Amino acid sequence: MQKLDVSMPSSEQRAYNNPAVVFHWLIALFIFMNFSLGIYMETFPKHTPSNDAVLFYHASLGSLVFMSALARLLWRITHRPLPLPSSVSNWQVTASHVLHWTLYILMLTVPLSGFIHRQAGAHAVNFFGLAALPVLVDKNEPLRLFTDTLHETLVWVLAALVLGHLMVALKHRFIDRDGVVERMLRRL
Ligand code: HEM
Repeated sequence: MQKLDVSMPSSEQRAYNNPAVVFHWLIALFIFMNFSLGIYMETFPKHTPSNDAVLFYHASLGSLVFMSALARLLWRITHRPLPLPSSVSNWQVTASHVLHWTLYILMLTVPLSGFIHRQAGAHAVNFFGLAALPVLVDKNEPLRLFTDTLHETLVWVLAALVLGHLMVALKHRFIDRDGVVERMLRRL
């Protein structure tokens, strides 16, 4: 990733543009909501009306995360992100690169593993009651069990990395005070 001399910021480099900001905060909100729904869902015994009702919204919102993350990934591949200030060391630039790409992978694999888990259990996934989503796999008990463990594992890896991402943002904001966080906090 390229580095920028903070002493001479150009107007385009001071903030992310609207699509980048909307993608970032909308997906963050959806993931937070669906993480909470997933935890809430687990408080009900399986195959009860309450569990099924929460699962319906959890699966729908999770599918929306997948679609939004796919659109965001296409945007990211076709648009260069803002360079980091020159005060950020090379290893930190590399670490941020690795963290951001891992987050992209998890934004796709967390919902996908839940989606495959449902379909491998012979349950169609309906998007908020509006449309049935495409069937990717047939009933398959080993795959159902595998994706159950995979979904629950990846979700906690995602939670840990989001927490790390938040900690780094707080460091930039309150310790380094280098304007990196403000680029994603600007008004639309
Ligand atoms: C970003 C998207 C998603 C997030 C953050 C998420 C998060 C979670 C969380 C936190 C749990 C509880 C895990 C635990 O208690 O350790 C869970 C369970 C579950 N999720 Fe998701 N999920 C997402 C997408 C999906 C999708 C798209 C589906 C299905 C279409 C799905 C289906 C399930 C199922 C069936 C369970 C219960 C697994 C079991 O206990 O058997 N999830 N999810």
